[in-house]
Amino acid sequence: MAKNTDSVRAAGGEAEAELATGISAEDYRAALRRHPAGVTIVTLDSEAGPVGFTATSFASVSLNPPLVSFNIAHSSSSIGALHSADSLVIHLLGEHQQHLAQRFARSADQRFADRSLWARLDTGEPVLHGTPSWLRVTVDQLIPVGDHTLVIGLVTRVHAEDDDESAAAPLLYHEGRYYRPTPLDN
Ligand SMILES: Cc1cc2nc3c(=O)[nH]c(=O)nc-3n(C[C@H](O)[C@H](O)[C@H](O)COP(=O)(O)O)c2cc1C
Repeated sequence: MAKNTDSVRAAGGEAEAELATGISAEDYRAALRRHPAGVTIVTLDSEAGPVGFTATSFASVSLNPPLVSFNIAHSSSSIGALHSADSLVIHLLGEHQQHLAQRFARSADQRFADRSLWARLDTGEPVLHGTPSWLRVTVDQLIPVGDHTLVIGLVTRVHAEDDDESAAAPLLYHEGRYYRPTPLDN
């Protein structure tokens, strides 16, 4: 994910790449891989059709006003559409949605190919069926930070499924694998 392109080029390969502060890209990635994260999918509408990608960089930022954030890589095929979007949907995935997390991190042209997986809100954004919780946000700020852009979204709609799947465990990502949480005590 985080990548200093110049240093990568200078070192001739990612494994030996040294980042701006002298740490290695390998050490940086290894440390961050140990930090678990909830998995989200960000979707939005664009002139060319629906756009979306898997993201673990989601965070809540502010209660009042209700603001959330995520990061998008400048190399992402979704970056142009995101810059043009006024609003988007952030899906907080359940453990039953691992297949969607994988789908939305692979070939961009296949992500919305299965029409049975999604619909559109009355405001136009694509929404993925069976998602325990999703947030509709309007784009409040786009802040370039290193090789990513930090997106700040103002939450305008909160959806919680009220069927059994609403109680589903969240989908987690850790050390390159998907997990469900296990409580330490009862
Ligand atoms: C678990 C996981 C988390 C990810 N989190 C982010 C993220 O927070 N921001 C981001 O820009 N890309 C993230 N990605 C990568 C995107 O989902 C996507 O694979 C990448 O942008 C390449 O898409 P593209 O081929 O459309 O450019 C993540 C991928 C995975 C598998």
